[in-house]
Amino acid sequence: MADSFQFDCRGSVVSGLGTARRPPAGLTIDGPVLAVVDAGLVGAGVAAPVLEGWQAAGLAVTAFTGFSSDPKAAQIDAARDAALKIGAAGVLGIGGGSALDVAKTAAGLLGSDFPAVDYALCRQPFPARTATLVAIPTTAGTGAEVTRTTVYSDAAGTKLWAWDDALRPDVAVLDPEVTVGLPPALTAATGADALVHAIEACTNKRANPIVDAWSLHAIRLVVHTLPVAVRHPSDLAARATLQVAACLAGLAIDACGTGVAHALGHALGSLAGVHHGRSVALGLRVALPGNAAAAPERHAAVSLAMGLIGEDDMQLAPALASRFDAFLGQVGVEVSLAGDGLGPADAERLTRAVLQPENAPMCEANCREMTPEVVADLVHALLTAD
Ligand SMILES: [Fe+2]
Repeated sequence: MADSFQFDCRGSVVSGLGTARRPPAGLTIDGPVLAVVDAGLVGAGVAAPVLEGWQAAGLAVTAFTGFSSDPKAAQIDAARDAALKIGAAGVLGIGGGSALDVAKTAAGLLGSDFPAVDYALCRQPFPARTATLVAIPTTAGTGAEVTRTTVYSDAAGTKLWAWDDALRPDVAVLDPEVTVGLPPALTAATGADALVHAIEACTNKRANPIVDAWSLHAIRLVVHTLPVAVRHPSDLAARATLQVAACLAGLAIDACGTGVAHALGHALGSLAGVHHGRSVALGLRVALPGNAAAAPERHAAVSLAMGLIGEDDMQLAPALASRFDAFLGQVGVEVSLAGDGLGPADAERLTRAVLQPENAPMCEANCREMTPEVVADLVHALLTAD
C-alpha cells in the first residue's frame, strides 16, 4: 500500500440499457465522427443500431474496421489517417479492448505527425487531444473505457503500451445490450481480466484506500455475476453488473496499475497470441501463492471479497490461490497452455519476454519482488499447468 496517493477522476460514465444507441446527453460534437468498430460486430449486426442511432442524432459517422485483435501500431496509424481524412471532431470506439485501444490511440494522435509506435512506453507525451472521445465497450473486462492506457504491438509483434491523459475517453457508455452476443468462452476470459485487474490493483505496491473500495467491490460483483453471464449470455442484469465491475476495476488500474500477472500475460500474448484475459488469469493463478505470502493482509481482503471465511489473515491469504483456481474452473477458463503450442521447452524465451523493459512497470509494482529467478519459477509453473 502506498504511503500517500493522488489521482483524479475526469471523464463521465453513462450506464443503462439502450444508452449506446444515442450520443450521451450533454455531449456536443461539432463535426464528423470516426467510429472505430470491430468488424465482427458489424457482421453480427451489433454495430448497426449504434451507428444508426448516432446518425439519427445528426452526426456524420464513418466506420473504420481496419484492425485486428491485439492491434498493430500501423493499424492505429491508419485509423488516425482515416479520422484526419474526414476531419473528425469525434472518435467513437465500439468493441472490446482492441477497438477501444485503436480508437483511443488514434484520437490521441490526431495532432501528431508521428506514428503510434513513437509514443509507446511513454517515449514522448501525446499532444493535447483535438477530438471528443467516446468508448462503448462490448465486452466486460478490459476497463479500457475509463483508462489512460492502450496496448498495441510493434511490427515484430511485441506487445507495447502507451499511457497518457490524452488517451482517457471523455465518456464511457455501459450498455449491456451490446454485450449479450459475446460467447461464453470470451465472456469468461474478459470477465477474468476484470477480476485480475481488481485483484492486482488492490494488492500491488501502489494501492490506496479508494482503489481498495473500487477493487474489492469489483471482485464481489465478478464472483457473483460472471458464472451467471457465462451460463445465461442473454441475462441483461448480469451483463450490466459485469460492465460496472469491469469499469470499477478499470478505474482501479488506472489509479495504480497492475502486477506481474499482466507482465506474464503480455509475454504470453506476444509469444503465442494467448487471449489477454485468459493469459493474465493464468499468470495470476501461478503468482498468487507467492504474492499472498508477501502481502497477507491485502490478499486476505481479496479472499473475503471472493467469499472465503477465515479466522485471520494468515488463514485467509493462503486460501486465495485455490479459491481463484476453482473460480477459473467454474467459468471454464482453460489452464493448460499445451493447446496453445506452449510447453516447458519454451520456458527460457517466455522468461526473457517477461523480463523485457515494457513489462518492468508491472513487475516493479507487484507486491512480491520479481527477481529473474522468481519470474523463471512462475514461468515454469505456467508452462506445466494442467
Ligand atoms: Fe488486463
